[in-house]
This record gives sequence, C-alpha cells and structure tokens, in this order.
Amino acid sequence: MHNIPMARPEPEDVEIELFIRALQLRHGYDFSQYTRASFKRRVLNLVTAQGFGSISEMTGRLLRDDAFVAPLVAGLSVPVSDMFRNPGVFKALREAVFPLLKSYPNLNIWQAGCAFGEEVYSLAILLQEAGLYERTQIYATDFNDAALARAQEGIFPAREARTYSENYLAAGGAGSFSDYYHARYEHIKLDEQLKRNITFANHNLVADGIFCEPHLILCRNVLIYFTDTLQNRVLSLFRDSLIRGGFLCLGNKETLDFAPAGKDFVAVDRRARIFRRASSNQ
Ligand SMILES: C[S@@+](CC[C@H](N)C(=O)[O-])C[C@H]1O[C@@H](n2cnc3c(N)ncnc32)[C@H](O)[C@@H]1O
Repeated sequence: MHNIPMARPEPEDVEIELFIRALQLRHGYDFSQYTRASFKRRVLNLVTAQGFGSISEMTGRLLRDDAFVAPLVAGLSVPVSDMFRNPGVFKALREAVFPLLKSYPNLNIWQAGCAFGEEVYSLAILLQEAGLYERTQIYATDFNDAALARAQEGIFPAREARTYSENYLAAGGAGSFSDYYHARYEHIKLDEQLKRNITFANHNLVADGIFCEPHLILCRNVLIYFTDTLQNRVLSLFRDSLIRGGFLCLGNKETLDFAPAGKDFVAVDRRARIFRRASSNQ
C-alpha cells in the first residue's frame, strides 16, 4: 500500500510557525490566532526593516535578546488610525448612544486597541461637548507600549489637522477643532485638559481578562486581524466586561454575525456597527 504524500508546507511557513512559537514560549505573546496571511506580511516587513536575512535569523534574536521583544511587538501591531475616523460612527455615538448614557451618574468607557490615541481624544472631545466628560472615566488600552507612550503625549502631525477638522465637523462637532489644540511647527498638541479623565494602560486582548465594567466599549479595526475563533473569544470578553445594556462599537468591516457570542448583543445601528449587550444573558 502506498501512502499518499501530504502537501508539505513551504520553508517560510514553517519559519513563521517557529517564530510564533518562540514569541509565545519565550515572551508570552500569542499571535497564533492572528489571520496568517497579513501576519506573515508584517513579519516579512519586519525582517527587512530590521536588516535580518530571514525569519529564522530574527527568531534567533528574539530568543536571546529580551530587549528586542518591545520593538518586535510594536512592529507587528499596525497602530494606524485617524481622529474621528469614519465620522458617521462618531455622529451615531453622539446621537444614538450619548443620550442613553446621560442617565448614569458615572460612566466607564473602554477604548481597546487605542493605537496613538486618535480615537480616544476624539471621544473625549465629543463627550465634553455633550456635557458627559466630567462624569466619565475612559480607559484607553493597547498591547503596544510604544504606541501607548505616544498616545499619552497627544501630539499629531500638523499635516493631518485639516482632515481631522473636516472629520470633526462631519462627526457633528459643535465648535471648531482648532479650539482643542495648539500648533507647534510640524505638530499639533492636543489640549492637556482632554487627558484629565483618560487612563492609558497595557491590556492584551488575547491574554488579559475582563476589564473596568464599561458602559461603552469602542474597539474598532482590531478584530479584523483575528481568526473567527479569537474574534469570538474577544467578543465574549467584551460581553462579560460590559454592564448589562452596555454598548459595543466595532469597526466598519467587523461584524457579530459569525460569532456565537454575537447572539448576546442586539443591534442599535448596524451601519455604524453599534450594538448593545442584551440584558437577558448572564
Ligand atoms: C489598526 S489599529 C486600530 C486603531 C483604532 N482603534 C482605529 O480604529 O482607528 C489596531 C490596534 O490594535 C492593537 N492590537 C492588536 N492586537 C492587540 C491585542 N491583542 N491586544 C490589544 N491591542 C491590540 C494594535 O496595537 C493597534 O494599535
């Protein structure tokens, strides 16, 4: 009897598996449930950017050099964002969610995957204009410490100011975006006051537990990097963290439709990807 030969993986795919395993065993970061094709692209970009000859060479460095893990995680994390990104979503939050949040004396908001802070400052501005900021504690989290450090600074390239202004108005901003920053040469620095109720913290959605009993979770453009299995796990984490009736806002390409945990949410605004934790589930 002849055995039918199994398709053997390409050397580079084996290298990726070993890289993921090394990162997990040596440093506790688990990327095994990130969608493989885009993860591989990011790893290969890093190999080039860091001047290695191969993935295996980079794996060797990560095994022996603890200081290398932070730049590695930063390089794998894609902290790409915009202030008031998809302004219609912020408008929907302002019009459909904020009025319902007004009934709570204190509010917790969790912005997961905050990148350089663009969304969390956008949220702070809109909460302030809605008269809700004083009663709100916002937790902005990410697993990329370098991104968190930049987010804390609240400094953005001046060339983005015009786009941010347009987005702010499209999001229903009540004043002028320029009221919220000082221009300094090539940069704009957001008003320090916006930070007064924001806590920046490291939280890894893959490894860390439920968080802060939020009334609203904003987690946009993070689940797209995860397999269906991991998406479902993270959605369960959001459901278990949220207060009953709490709101969840996802990215424009993200959906609850294929996740078992999705049945524990009801849609508030499908287009804006705003959902609410059903009050009947535990
Ligand atoms: C494309 S950005 C999204 C930024 C922002 N939410 C937006 O929609 O504009 C994805 C962010 O998710 C973060 N991220 C990826 N995996 C994560 C994880 N396991 N735990 C926490 N944050 C993660 C990345 O570091 C990055 O800052």
